[in-house]
Amino acid sequence: MARLDVTVGRTALKNPLIAGAAEHMIEAGGVLGALRAGPGAVVVKSINEMERGKDQLQRAEYMLLDEQWREIPWTKDAPATAFMATRSGLTPQAFDAWLEQTAKLDRDAKAMDAYAIASLIVADLDKTVAMARQIEQAGLRILELNIGTPYASQAKGVVATELDPARVTMIVSAVRQAIKIPLWVKITGQSERVPELAAAAFAAGGEAVVMAGRLLGFIPDVETMQPFLGTTLGVGGYWNLPLTCHWLSVSRQALGPDKPLIATNGARNGLDVARMMLAGAHAVEMASNVMLRGTDTLSSALTELDAYLQQKNINAADLVGVAADRRKTFADMPLRTDNWKKYVAG
Ligand SMILES: Cc1cc2nc3c(=O)[nH]c(=O)nc-3n(C[C@H](O)[C@H](O)[C@H](O)COP(=O)(O)O)c2cc1C
Repeated sequence: MARLDVTVGRTALKNPLIAGAAEHMIEAGGVLGALRAGPGAVVVKSINEMERGKDQLQRAEYMLLDEQWREIPWTKDAPATAFMATRSGLTPQAFDAWLEQTAKLDRDAKAMDAYAIASLIVADLDKTVAMARQIEQAGLRILELNIGTPYASQAKGVVATELDPARVTMIVSAVRQAIKIPLWVKITGQSERVPELAAAAFAAGGEAVVMAGRLLGFIPDVETMQPFLGTTLGVGGYWNLPLTCHWLSVSRQALGPDKPLIATNGARNGLDVARMMLAGAHAVEMASNVMLRGTDTLSSALTELDAYLQQKNINAADLVGVAADRRKTFADMPLRTDNWKKYVAG
C-alpha cells in the first residue's frame, strides 16, 4: 500500500485531495457528503460581510461548454472536456449561522481525520480581520483567505483580486496578526506575478498558498451574437491544468521546496492530482468537477491516485516537485537542426 498522507505546513492531511469551495459546499449536507468521500479536507463556500456578495449568488448563472465552445447539458455524464463558465457569488447564510455550521462541520471532519476549512473572501479588511478572529474562537482549525477571485473588476468592493504583492503583504499580515491557526492564502492566476504574489503571502505569515484562481473570460455565442450569460465570466477547466502546473513549478523554483503550495484550477481526477503534485503542489483542490459530477469524483480520484502511487512504488509526499525539479531551461536543450520541418502540415 502506498502512503497517501502529506503535510501542508503544520497540518497533516490523510491524503493530498482537498474538495475546493463552490456552491456544493454551501449546505452542511454537501460538505458532509464530500467529507464522507474521503478527502483530506473540504473548503466550505466562502463568506464575507457584503450583502452584495449574497445578492450576487442569487443572480449567479452557470453553464457547461464543450471544446467547440457550445453550451452542453449540465449532467454528471458530460464529456471529460466539459468546462464551466459562471458568474458566482458568496454564501447566502448570515455570518453567525455560517460560522456555527462550519465549526460543527470541522468537528465532524475531525472525527473523520479530516478538516472542514473556513473560507473568507476579503472586501473590507477590518471586517475580514474581525471575522478571522471569530473563526478561530469558534474552534475552526484552518482558514483559507481568498484574495484571488476572478471577479473584482466586475464586482467592485465585493470581492478581491489582488495583483500587487505589497497589498498581499498588507492584507495577509493583518489577518496573520489576528489569529494563530494555519492561514492558507488563495491567490489569483490573472497575473504575470504569481510567484511574487505567493512570496508576499508567505513573507506576511501565510502558511500555504493556493494557486491559482480562475480567470476572467468572455465567450460570444455565434447563434445569438450575445455574450454567453450576458457578460464577462469566471472560467476554468481541464485546459487550465498546464497553467496551474507552470505556476506551481516556477513558484517552487523561486520560493524553495519548503513553502507549501496547494494547487487549484483544472484537476479532474487522481492523475491530475499526481500531475499537480509533480509540479510542486503539496495538496490539490478539486472544485468544479465535484460540483458537476458529485462526490464520487473525490473517491474515484483517491482510488486512481492510490493505484498510480502503487504502480510507481512511491508515496504521495514523495511526488511533490519531482517534475518541477527536473525542469531544464531552454538553453539546456540540445540542438535539433530542422526538427521543425516534421511538424508542418502538408
Ligand atoms: C461556481 C463556482 C463557485 C466558486 N466559489 C468559490 C468560493 O466561494 N470560494 C473560493 O475560494 N473559490 C470558489 N470557487 C473557485 C474554486 O474553489 C476553484 O478554485 C476553481 O473552480 C478552480 O478549480 P477547479 O478546476 O477544480 O474547479 C468557485 C468556483 C466555481 C466554478
